[in-house]
Amino acid sequence: MNKLAVIGAGYVGLVTGICLASCGHDVTCMDIDECKIDQLKAGRLPLFEPGLQELHDTNTAKGRLSFTTNPEQAVQHAEGVFIAVGTPPRKDGGADLSYIHNAIQSIAPFLQKDSVIIMKSTVPVGTHADVKKLLDRTAGHPVRLVSNPEFLREGSAVNDFFYSDRIVIGSNDPSPASFVEQLYHSIPSPVIHTDPQTAEMIKYSSNAFLAAKISFINEMAALCEAEGADISMVAAGMGMDKRIGEHFLKAGIGYGGSCFPKDTTALLYSAAQQNITVPLLSSIHEVNRRQPRVFIKKVLDRFGSIEGKKAAVLGLTFKPNTDDLRRSPSREIINLLVEEGAMVTGYDPVVSVSGKRVWQIPLAQTMEEALTGADLAVICTEWKEIIDFPLHCYPLYMKEANIFDGRNCYPVSQARGLPLFYSSVGRPVYK
Ligand code: UGA
Repeated sequence: MNKLAVIGAGYVGLVTGICLASCGHDVTCMDIDECKIDQLKAGRLPLFEPGLQELHDTNTAKGRLSFTTNPEQAVQHAEGVFIAVGTPPRKDGGADLSYIHNAIQSIAPFLQKDSVIIMKSTVPVGTHADVKKLLDRTAGHPVRLVSNPEFLREGSAVNDFFYSDRIVIGSNDPSPASFVEQLYHSIPSPVIHTDPQTAEMIKYSSNAFLAAKISFINEMAALCEAEGADISMVAAGMGMDKRIGEHFLKAGIGYGGSCFPKDTTALLYSAAQQNITVPLLSSIHEVNRRQPRVFIKKVLDRFGSIEGKKAAVLGLTFKPNTDDLRRSPSREIINLLVEEGAMVTGYDPVVSVSGKRVWQIPLAQTMEEALTGADLAVICTEWKEIIDFPLHCYPLYMKEANIFDGRNCYPVSQARGLPLFYSSVGRPVYK
């Protein structure tokens, strides 16, 4: 058992802190946001992540998990300090490291001489050396710094933490690296040791590669539509080849969230800074940027004009099992529908319930309410509730059952014989 601190109680910080407490460590999570820390102290998580609340409750009850806004209290006795603050995109596409700098300046004066600082935040390749200099200078002594990127997916982060495909530890010094390795001793995942810049690069390359798979399958989906082929079967057939793999081959309206868009843009920025041309990386980003517009063209082709039409947008989050709306492709879909004059109502199983108002559109409280009287429905997120909603029920609520499924929630065969129009991604249209 080790005494640990996690700086930043956002998505990555909270999952990391709470899961490390579950591994038996004594963890203090620190954030500058007083409201968030008050909420956590009162036992409520500021985000929706399956399984995390239960782990929070168990570990708090066992006295292994605490929360503070005070950097001294967080790190003064900590043997390991995880930095898990945000690195949002700047206007020029590079990563904004100001939260990292602020976090380091606030904790460095209180660090123990031998404590290990562990970088969890996604930082551009080469950041390690700069952060180390800043740490040494502010602490007034050499500080041991290790890069330990995260590979958690929102919606399945708890499972990803305990059953990670790999743990990457980047350090030029074996002693802090083995300290970090033993923090994860109860997790049966392979560990890979590298230098810090390689660890940082593994994180970016992994996200870029996954994004590439998605953009690739979306491009193939457009060809399938033209040729009358079915992208779901194409993906299944491709995925059976172990060299390709079945994951991340689901065609749709494009990837969103706080990671893929930000990390591909940051990598493009780094390449430009290094004067390296990366045409493949640029295309991944460009294909994704166009995907919502490509999808809405199907709506316009069907109607000619959607001026005054009632549209129900089903699913708003960037993927299921999260309440995260950051960079969700549904936003661009809604903007395009509104630009074309449609009257849009949104529904999302988590966002609607929380009562949030999203992007200036009204939210329905149920799927049935969103669909009532609608001329068209656009599915943006494959929530289970949406997949479980029978296709034959759409005509019961809608004025005209025109369904545009951006996530291929239903087999096309299910539409057969029903009084509806069903258009999805990369599969034959049913009319
Ligand atoms: C992603 C990575 O999967 C994690 O490994 C990584 O740790 C994380 O970014 C990060 O850098 O923090 P996440 O953004 O939570 O995780 O979500 P994903 O499950 O990767 O999905 C991203 C987007 O791609 C979603 O909008 C999803 O709908 C879309 N997607 C995913 C597809 O369109 N098709 C697919 O086949 C898979």
